[in-house]
Amino acid sequence: MMPDTSAVLLRIQALTEQLHHLNYEYYQRDTSEVSDQEFDQLLTELQQLEAAHPDLALANSPTRRVGGTITKQFPTAEHRYPMLSLGNTYSEDDLREFDERVQKGLEGAPYAYVCELKIDGVAMSLRYEHGQLTQGVTRGDGTRGDVVTANVRTIKTLPLALRPGQDRPEDFEVRGEVFLPLPVFEELNAEREQNGESLMANPRNAASGTLKLQNSVQVAARKLKFYAYSLLTPGRHFTSHSAALEALSRYGLPVSDTWRRASNIAEVLDFVHYWAQKRFDLPVATDGIVIKVDNLRQQDQLGYTAKSPRWAIAYKYPAEAARTRLNEVLYNVGRTGAVTPVALLTPVPLAGTVVKRATLHNANQIEALDLRLGDLVFVEKGGEIIPKITGVDLTARPAGAVPIQYPTACPACGTALVRPEGEAHFRCPNERGCPPQLKARLEHYVSRKALNIDGLGAETVGRFFELSMVKTPADIYDLPARRPELVTLERLGEKSIDNLISGIEASKQVPFPRVLFGMGIRYIGETVAQKLAAHYRSIDALMAASAEEMAAVPEVGGVIAVAAAHWFQQPENRQLIERLRQAGVQLEVTGEAPVPASDRLAGLTFVISGVFEQHSRDELQQLIISNGGKITGSISKKLSYLVAGENMGPAKREKALGFKVPIISETDLMALLPALEEAAGFEIFPEETPPAPAPEAPSNRPGQQGSLF
Ligand code: IVH
Repeated sequence: MMPDTSAVLLRIQALTEQLHHLNYEYYQRDTSEVSDQEFDQLLTELQQLEAAHPDLALANSPTRRVGGTITKQFPTAEHRYPMLSLGNTYSEDDLREFDERVQKGLEGAPYAYVCELKIDGVAMSLRYEHGQLTQGVTRGDGTRGDVVTANVRTIKTLPLALRPGQDRPEDFEVRGEVFLPLPVFEELNAEREQNGESLMANPRNAASGTLKLQNSVQVAARKLKFYAYSLLTPGRHFTSHSAALEALSRYGLPVSDTWRRASNIAEVLDFVHYWAQKRFDLPVATDGIVIKVDNLRQQDQLGYTAKSPRWAIAYKYPAEAARTRLNEVLYNVGRTGAVTPVALLTPVPLAGTVVKRATLHNANQIEALDLRLGDLVFVEKGGEIIPKITGVDLTARPAGAVPIQYPTACPACGTALVRPEGEAHFRCPNERGCPPQLKARLEHYVSRKALNIDGLGAETVGRFFELSMVKTPADIYDLPARRPELVTLERLGEKSIDNLISGIEASKQVPFPRVLFGMGIRYIGETVAQKLAAHYRSIDALMAASAEEMAAVPEVGGVIAVAAAHWFQQPENRQLIERLRQAGVQLEVTGEAPVPASDRLAGLTFVISGVFEQHSRDELQQLIISNGGKITGSISKKLSYLVAGENMGPAKREKALGFKVPIISETDLMALLPALEEAAGFEIFPEETPPAPAPEAPSNRPGQQGSLF
């Protein structure tokens, strides 16, 4: 018998409330009233009820955290209170001067400060209405930012629903920092290194890149965190900043418990000194201390300059430097032949880790520093995680030290290096025969974002390469037939071979854009591969295109197009493609219907602006181009149409009106195109492709993590 709906609703409400409470206990207080298994049972029960009664599911249900939302483009929103920045200083004298200004501004009244750690992440503004998280907006230009709500919802330590509280404002904003914990950042970079992808310079970039990912399932996998540092309401709800911080904690928001009240500047400096070294023990990147006048009325009294408050200042710790010896310089040859010098140093402790290597970027830098082997060099670790050499201690230069000679030939294959004009790197042009290039290309081909071949990781494919069993990606598909040879290899059991073979077989289903990315053509990253695949739909059409034609595809500039066209012209690359084709690898887009093509829009130019209901912006661009129209970025009097979606900036509208350019909607544009029936009964666009499946059975409750600080 069907349970009646109101009983189901009550149960859904009860489960939702209980799960929110358990999440609060777990993530904010490091305690747990139930076992992980019990928690999972409750969550599963809620998931099942919601699946059976989708109309009863609550908007902020704890089941709805792990994303699944694909945002083609982030809409923007205006901040209700502008997001200002802070004045910065590196000197303690400046802090004392700041204190004098505060004292003067407050005309002798007593005052106190709050000191907080300055977390190196991305500023975020969250809106809570009636206790529910309703919006997350990035700082943007301080006035408008990107709406990234679906992505911030994946941050597990962030409550979707707040705890009740008598003094909780009904509608308020929380400002804070979204960040990637250091261990997660390091893990991510290790994985990227394995995949031959470029490393992320620091956790801040990684956090900001993560927030801009379009698929929130990927965002969820990145394990971002959040710390709140201010609460904003239309009126004055609290008397002091410290009271607001305490309230935020009570409502269930994560507030770092490192903040302290300081009754005078001497106590502020104590706090600064205390964290100078201690901060390296924290699993989060910090770059300084933020000092704020505690009393909110006094904050108002002190006011603002054009950019920042007069009641707060950021003290930044100087970049940590150490002196050590440069013993050797290695030259790494990457997938595209770029040669990168790496300094090998006598290990030295620096900013919480022991540094053994530093990047030297390129030949220019070696020259500019006039480096010699045996020099004592200064190494710095600023916001960047990879240390760099910033100078030489000339007073300690050993007699007769010889300048470092940048190699003129590839350290791996001996081919003369070249330096294309305008480029900082020397390159080994021996694309076909240089072993580290070949090996890195294989590693790239099997990497997670390319063919992602199960049972064939970077290490195994590298081993096959060393054994001369595999030289190009096409050779991988011959492996299943070479089982007798494989079984003779050490550390490769029958089970691993089975795994490898089924992984290779499965990789034949990997969609064309990822295969194209896997080919490792210079400049063709994931996004460009997707654009090219969507536009040309098959490798044959792509190979037939000229550089000029490719350059016209949105987001594919001239440099990329020339490199791609050149690559496709090389006989060995054509041969590679033929062999991949014979192996059964996907070399065309399947499943989706082609976009109708006509010359209806020939001679017309369009600007597309805003967010659209039925199509993504890319789809509209593609429609226009495949029907003979052109896309441009700026509004001029020659423009034929401005296609306007939601959230289009008022400036664009005004400009178009000024030039008398017709402003049309998405529907108007569709009316200019051949009718659906003319497109041979195809749907113009298939339903939105489903997001990538969530990583297998993600545990709803990762291992208990201690509080960060
Ligand atoms: S207060 C009006 N407190 O540092 C000033 N900012 O320019 C509001 N940050 O990007 C900022 N930790 O996101 C404040 N405890 C903290 C902070 C903090 C990091 C960031 C902030 C902004 C920059 C300040």
